[in-house]
Amino acid sequence: MTTLVVLHGANLDMLGERPAVHYGTVTLGELETAITTEAAAVGWECICLQTNHEGTFIEWLHEHRKADAMIVNPGAWTHYSYAIRDALELVSCPVAEVHLSDIAAREEWRRHSVVSPVVSFTVAGKGPQGYLEAVHRLHDMAAG
Ligand code: DQA
Repeated sequence: MTTLVVLHGANLDMLGERPAVHYGTVTLGELETAITTEAAAVGWECICLQTNHEGTFIEWLHEHRKADAMIVNPGAWTHYSYAIRDALELVSCPVAEVHLSDIAAREEWRRHSVVSPVVSFTVAGKGPQGYLEAVHRLHDMAAG
């Protein structure tokens, strides 16, 4: 069975209560269900994890570095965590960086992602739909 690992970072457990203007109203549980359902539709199983601890996020990247495909939304760590960037470099499968909000159109400090150079592609500003798009793009990469 092909395994897709979905890692969410800091504060994403609070989706549903975070500013709806940026993140909508979906909860993390609902988002994970939508991703898992989309993955199942292409025959993939899904492991969904969330943490507010950077070291745990890094250890999960190590643990799952040989998964078949990965989606990461590191939250605010996206913008400054060189440790997460270095851990992502060790991941051997295709990795999608996904953000619910359009980070390029927000505050100056959010416009730069330190992880973008070491992922396969980035999807931002499409809300939950961006994750579903990422599942299909990862699937296409695996098939190709
Ligand atoms: C986010 C964007 C980040 O800037 C922010 O810190 C988040 C969520 C997004 O999904 O839009 O926590 O990664």
